[in-house]
Amino acid sequence: MDRIAIVGGARLNGEIQISGAKNSAIKLMAASLLTDEPLRLTNMPRLADTRFLGTLLTRLGTMVDERNGAETILHTPEIVSSFAPYDLVRQMRASFNVLGPLIARTGQAKVSLPGGCTIGARPVDLHLKALEALGAQIDLHEGYVYAQAPRGLRGAEIEFPFVSVGATEHAMLTAVLAKGVTVLSNAACEPELGDLADCLNKMGAQVEGAGTSEIRIIGVKKLSGATHAVITDRIEAGTYAVAAAMAGGEVRLTNTRADLIEALLVKIEEAGAQVERMNDGVIIRRNGARLKAVDVDTGVYPGFATDLQAQFMALMTMADGESVIREHIFENRFMHVPELNRLGADITVSGGEARVRGVDRLEGAQVMATDLRASVSLVIAGLAAEGETMVGRVYHLDRGFERLEEKLGACGANVRRIKGEGPAEAEG
Ligand code: UD1
Repeated sequence: MDRIAIVGGARLNGEIQISGAKNSAIKLMAASLLTDEPLRLTNMPRLADTRFLGTLLTRLGTMVDERNGAETILHTPEIVSSFAPYDLVRQMRASFNVLGPLIARTGQAKVSLPGGCTIGARPVDLHLKALEALGAQIDLHEGYVYAQAPRGLRGAEIEFPFVSVGATEHAMLTAVLAKGVTVLSNAACEPELGDLADCLNKMGAQVEGAGTSEIRIIGVKKLSGATHAVITDRIEAGTYAVAAAMAGGEVRLTNTRADLIEALLVKIEEAGAQVERMNDGVIIRRNGARLKAVDVDTGVYPGFATDLQAQFMALMTMADGESVIREHIFENRFMHVPELNRLGADITVSGGEARVRGVDRLEGAQVMATDLRASVSLVIAGLAAEGETMVGRVYHLDRGFERLEEKLGACGANVRRIKGEGPAEAEG
């Protein structure tokens, strides 16, 4: 397995082009199952997660054609199998989102339950309740969901008891081909939902209100092919914004939108770095003055993204004072804490709250990535640590960050990948 070595101390100066959003791309790929015509996706990130999903879709009957640049064409003239095996769903949780489209297109499906994940229990009960409300009969046996809709899917009023990005997307993906009107209330408002709705509407769906807490979908009989550019990856943009604030220097993030990471940018400014919001991105600047500790509470969009919590914690390890970071989305999302402490950070966790007491220096060490966002927090800490930080289990990082060492390296970071033996793997 590969490792990433970072020698800390270099400032970052330059430009980083942000890729298309992983969390949107994988739902858009699932949407390609809904039509027998080609779906052309541009601004596609090239990641382990998109490859895993491509493998699953190929088994289901999709021709996945990765063109040069960032374009992928997905074409499913016919569903040849409605079976998503454990091995493939386990490798990437979002594979579970093929369930609804398979039922919508063929009337039945057998899809493995995704199982646990390192950042908490992550159940799929809300997904299944939504599919049942839309007319699917669901049985669970031996870790598999057996679903049937012998009389087809029909629109329904679905009120989510709490906000779930995955369940809202899954319900939307399924309801577009259901008969009649579906109303999703207490829906997630994350920008990736709006992106999915835009793409589905280009395919001929009738989705209104995506990006608000009430989404209305008028079912259509058939969807067609379309061309769609994947929305910018706000988590990748936020990650490099934090990296620039940590290392110091001046970094311009392009092909992205400041408004999508406003909650983070405000915190970076409060901590003492400078933020310049541009039309096509954002500039982060820090001249070397020590940052101040600030508190953070994660929340649903437009709140502070849980996917940026680990990175921000890394930033706070060297700030002046004590920062309190509260995680409200996933109960177990502090796996990076012991690893950051190995680098000399002073963090204690109690329940859903981490207290970060800023230290004067971090010192490079061997650390291990535990999940996707946690692993990049270790890279960020390594940028400011003295000496060499060696991050193991880099496959986590490869799931969600495209050419990370290249992008950071181009700005002057001393980061290199050390190729290792053994297969790539993914979780979550
Ligand atoms: C998505 C993102 C993930 C991000 C998260 C929150 C993808 C691939 N992943 O994850 O990166 O961190 O949104 O912004 O897009 N829950 C249930 N039952 C369900 C579904 C969810 O109890 O059926 C709970 C979860 O355990 C969690 C909370 O709801 O505590 C939020 O989860 P959700 O918004 O669904 O996150 P994901 O879609 O899994």
